[in-house]
Amino acid sequence: MSAEPTPITATPLVQTEAGMALDGVPLVSLARRWGTPLYVYSADVIRRNLSAWQAALAQRSHLICYAVKANHNPHLLAELAKLGAGFDIVSGGEFELVRAAGAPADQVVFSGVGKRDDELEFALAEGIGTVNVESASELRKLAAIAARMGVQAPVALRVNPDVDPRTHPYIATGLHENKFGIGMEEAFALYREAAAEPAIALVGVACHIGSQLTELRPLEDAADRVMKLVRRLAEADIDLGVIDLGGGIGIDYDGDTPPTPCAFADAMRARVPARYTLKVEPGRSIAGPAGVLLSEVLVVKENEAGKRFVVVDAAMNDLMRPSLYGATHRIRGLLQKTTAPKRCDVVGPVCETGDFLGRGVLLAADEGDLVAISEAGAYGYVMASNYNVRTRPPEIWLDSGEAICSRRRETLSDLQQLDQMC
Ligand code: LLP
Repeated sequence: MSAEPTPITATPLVQTEAGMALDGVPLVSLARRWGTPLYVYSADVIRRNLSAWQAALAQRSHLICYAVKANHNPHLLAELAKLGAGFDIVSGGEFELVRAAGAPADQVVFSGVGKRDDELEFALAEGIGTVNVESASELRKLAAIAARMGVQAPVALRVNPDVDPRTHPYIATGLHENKFGIGMEEAFALYREAAAEPAIALVGVACHIGSQLTELRPLEDAADRVMKLVRRLAEADIDLGVIDLGGGIGIDYDGDTPPTPCAFADAMRARVPARYTLKVEPGRSIAGPAGVLLSEVLVVKENEAGKRFVVVDAAMNDLMRPSLYGATHRIRGLLQKTTAPKRCDVVGPVCETGDFLGRGVLLAADEGDLVAISEAGAYGYVMASNYNVRTRPPEIWLDSGEAICSRRRETLSDLQQLDQMC
């Protein structure tokens, strides 16, 4: 693995004679073979982004726990497990998937503000690395479950440092007004309680202030507040070995300039002394740039007011981010056109005005053309739904020039299997 600090780059789409290509594979050929809408992921980009994190933290004790919620594609999980990544999970289901992908349980951290008893039992029975506990009630519940099972639960308290991550409010998590984590004062008291609990083994402290962060400052402020608590606890004879600063480093969707893993590691060097293991939980910065969503133009219509709509066969149910967060994903045609690009809204067929994939996009597109929606590797397929009885797209894994269908297209009969007429 390269020791060179590689930055996280945007989806590396390259214009070739055969049209837009990813890792040398023309995307048109994939769309023709598997139909559209279609998710395509580059194994190479996944490897490069993990390696960017590994290089950034190579000089210190660390663990990179990929946030499974960003994308749980089986090839992607297996590749990361093979390369030695740990995992951050938020459900028993995610835990089962990372175990199936070959990840050792002790490299897994269990996050989430509401964990069910059966999920905690399963996590302890499998030997999970750490449970990031988010409330007094969860701590007590976990201690009782561990005592009943005759094991010790490895615990970090997830604190809420009350810093503004300066991101979309729906993905900001580190403010007091957010449901996540435990306030600093309460955390101090809970650590003392937990230290006296034989069924709990205190391993560290965790925090995650938000997602798609494009500035370092909030992460620095959060780390400073966390370390202040850690020092206070050390004075009270509670020594924590692991500082988990969560995920959140953003990616370049449309000209964003987020900090690199290296810049993050540099900023943390002075803040989190080398004797601590630094844990991170990146999701988007590993998976986001690795994926594109391919779609075919169904209809082009221009109304009397001169507004142009390019209706494609992908919709908000396939990629929710534009509708939910007003997110901007770059949209490009797969084949070069001789006609001049025009300003348009790229929309799906779903019956909602909120169903758009891009607004005010400059695009040359005619009916039957194919487009690629970039940076769709994180929070794309995993947030897809069956709204309007639309079946979910297939996922293609591109590895060393080979295209493998990782997950087939969902069919109506897949959906009907759940129906029960009594
Ligand atoms: N750790 C925890 C505890 C988290 O809650 C999250 C994300 C991560 C790590 C990974 O964060 P990342 O490195 O991916 O930013 N659906 C939204 C993003 C939701 C993020 C939720 N938590 C979106 O499409 O922007």
